[in-house]
Amino acid sequence: MEHGSVLIPGDGIGPEVTSAACRIIDAALQGSGSSINWIECHAGVAALDRGHTELLPQETVDAIQKVGVALKGPCTTPIGGGFSSVNVALRKTLDLYGAVRPVRSIDGVDTRYQDVDIVVIRENTEGLYAGIENEITPGVVTSLKVATEKASYRIAKFAFEYARSRGRKKVTVFHKANIMKKSDGLFIRCAKEVHDADYEDIQYEELIIDAACMRLVQDPTQFDMLLCENLYGDVVSDLCAGFVGGLGVTPGANFGDVNAVFEAVHGSAPDIAGKGVANPLAITMSGVMMLNHISVRNADPKTKAAAERIKVAYNSAVREGERTGDLGGNLGTDAFADAMIRRLG
Ligand code: NAI
Repeated sequence: MEHGSVLIPGDGIGPEVTSAACRIIDAALQGSGSSINWIECHAGVAALDRGHTELLPQETVDAIQKVGVALKGPCTTPIGGGFSSVNVALRKTLDLYGAVRPVRSIDGVDTRYQDVDIVVIRENTEGLYAGIENEITPGVVTSLKVATEKASYRIAKFAFEYARSRGRKKVTVFHKANIMKKSDGLFIRCAKEVHDADYEDIQYEELIIDAACMRLVQDPTQFDMLLCENLYGDVVSDLCAGFVGGLGVTPGANFGDVNAVFEAVHGSAPDIAGKGVANPLAITMSGVMMLNHISVRNADPKTKAAAERIKVAYNSAVREGERTGDLGGNLGTDAFADAMIRRLG
């Protein structure tokens, strides 16, 4: 079975790490009878360099809408007027309302914490990131925090469905409803209603975000899944990434009802771009999430099997000391990808 996936190489280290990830995915599927048809499209500065006038060209959006799945490298957002983030534009255009960031300890990656296994679910479309800001008068600015029942119900349902489908036991909602009584109040009310109506098998917990952050840092293993509105989710997911080794090992995905875009949490890393030293693991792990998604969406067990083989391969490579510089090793991007491919068996 052939599955289409849009490939957006992106900017900076994006082309290096996405090409490594595609090599690994293709190698894991080789001989299985299933394959990925990569449809290369562009976004970010790479799109402008190719003569597009927008950071997010319409043909890239159309291609994703056609196949419903994309693997995306990081995109640089040029500083200065006229450009908003490609990621924000993609999420809005495709209504990718649910961000998923799994944060898991990896054997062999030296960190302060062991056995961390948390999934952060972030509402992607509203909150303070609605971007409604006004200068009321010089020196006075307001920024509007938007919370709607529609978006709060749907992200809660998404989180509990995700929990149930993955055998997760508990969802903790982070909020500040003691101060933002209406907006965060609505968010937790909707989450609790969704839970109480259909998901009594999953434990439900609400925590005020400041105390929750303290508890996270004291012992992250007490958490299972976190459900956050947009800004809290953005901050908390990076905090959690720090538990397991940082940006080089943290994958992510953005889901809508129809489309899904898989990407690493890190940016285009201009400081190391072109040097061949970037860690391709985070985008490869995002590719694993993509293969699992395709397996369910297109009813193909072979892509799930390939995802499992890639997981085994990168865990064994890292455990045996084959790593990139950010993880204390001395391999370049391609050599690390080769080490993973050798372990696919
Ligand atoms: P960054 O994540 O690109 O880099 C932060 C630090 O982490 C740098 O020292 C970098 O070398 C290192 N790093 C990141 N990924 C790495 C990897 N795979 N292997 C080894 N080291 C890695 O964040 P920064 O510098 O704030 O942003 C650079 C550009 O990326 C900006 O234009 C920003 O807008 C964009 N960006 C794009 C994102 C996306 O498209 N999803 C996400 C975050 C930032």
